Amino acid sequence: MTLERNDEDGAKSNEKGKVKNFVHQPVLLNEIVQALPVASDGVFFDLTVGGAGHLEELVKHSAPGASLYGLDRDSLAVAVATERLSTYPQVKRIINAPFSTFSQVIRELEIETISGALLDLGVSSPQIDWAERGFSFQGEAPLDMRMDSRQTLTASELVNELDATELASLFWKYGEEKRSRRIASAIVASRETQVIDTTGALRKVISSTVGPANLTRTLARIFQALRIAVNRELDELESVLPQVIDSLRVGGKVAVISYHSLEDRIVKQTFARYSGACVCPPGMPICACGAHKELQPLTKKPIGASEEEVKSNPRSRSAKLRIAERIALSRRG
Ligand SMILES: C[S@@+](CC[C@H](N)C(=O)[O-])C[C@H]1O[C@@H](n2cnc3c(N)ncnc32)[C@H](O)[C@@H]1O
Repeated sequence: MTLERNDEDGAKSNEKGKVKNFVHQPVLLNEIVQALPVASDGVFFDLTVGGAGHLEELVKHSAPGASLYGLDRDSLAVAVATERLSTYPQVKRIINAPFSTFSQVIRELEIETISGALLDLGVSSPQIDWAERGFSFQGEAPLDMRMDSRQTLTASELVNELDATELASLFWKYGEEKRSRRIASAIVASRETQVIDTTGALRKVISSTVGPANLTRTLARIFQALRIAVNRELDELESVLPQVIDSLRVGGKVAVISYHSLEDRIVKQTFARYSGACVCPPGMPICACGAHKELQPLTKKPIGASEEEVKSNPRSRSAKLRIAERIALSRRG
């Protein structure tokens, strides 16, 4: 854990150090460069810019007349990406915002349509590796897990304020944890004597409840569930995809890399909905949902990382890339 001095200069130098040491290896890099038509003029958005690994590679392959934008809700990622991309004239702005505000962001930038968008979901390596952010079940840190430090809700609040039923349902829904009820009851019992406000304290309650067998996997599932809830990750994804698809010009493409089945299901179903798949309840005599084909999924099955990539970057193991192309405008006008 880095030592932080409690004065302004100290905070600034600490932030600078972090910008320098922000290392995230982008996943499926060549596949992303091939997926998005950056070699032609147009507007492109990386909505999860992180350390700008993908965006820098996209810029290097872009036409001189292309305009590229990055966005992230983590202010540190925005600082890193801004510094890394400062010499490229095609990079117009790096914006600090949640991607669910995408329509508003482009409206304010007076952008009507875009030619491509990338979403590389989940967390960056520094978010996990820097223990003080509270995402990791290893180490000792405040139970925080916020990607956006302007947000008030933290993992500590959820762990200490939800009742046993709510906690169990969160662990089941977002972590698919089979012992969710047992763990939730143990948390509620334990916090009666002491608040659980550090990653270490939560780890201790979980390990004393489930024992050593499969402990690491259980911890990973519980921490993942809390992270998804704190950052409302699935709501954010459900909200951004239609906004991105609606903003694509015909011929424009969207590429999404997801890291677990809950995310991939949302991507797959949203692409299907925009591809004319009827979503009427079973048994309807005729289609009444107005199914209309505006999007062509280009990946019937999602693209995964090669064995070689997984060896050099284990984080890529669970990556699934889906790509789709806008083929018609919406009937909604
Ligand atoms: C896997 S990292 C992206 C890494 C990036 N592609 C690179 O090459 O460095 C995911 C990033 O998305 C950001 N993020 C996740 N959910 C977000 C949301 N709803 N709005 C904006 N940014 C988000 C995280 O803060 C994180 O920086």
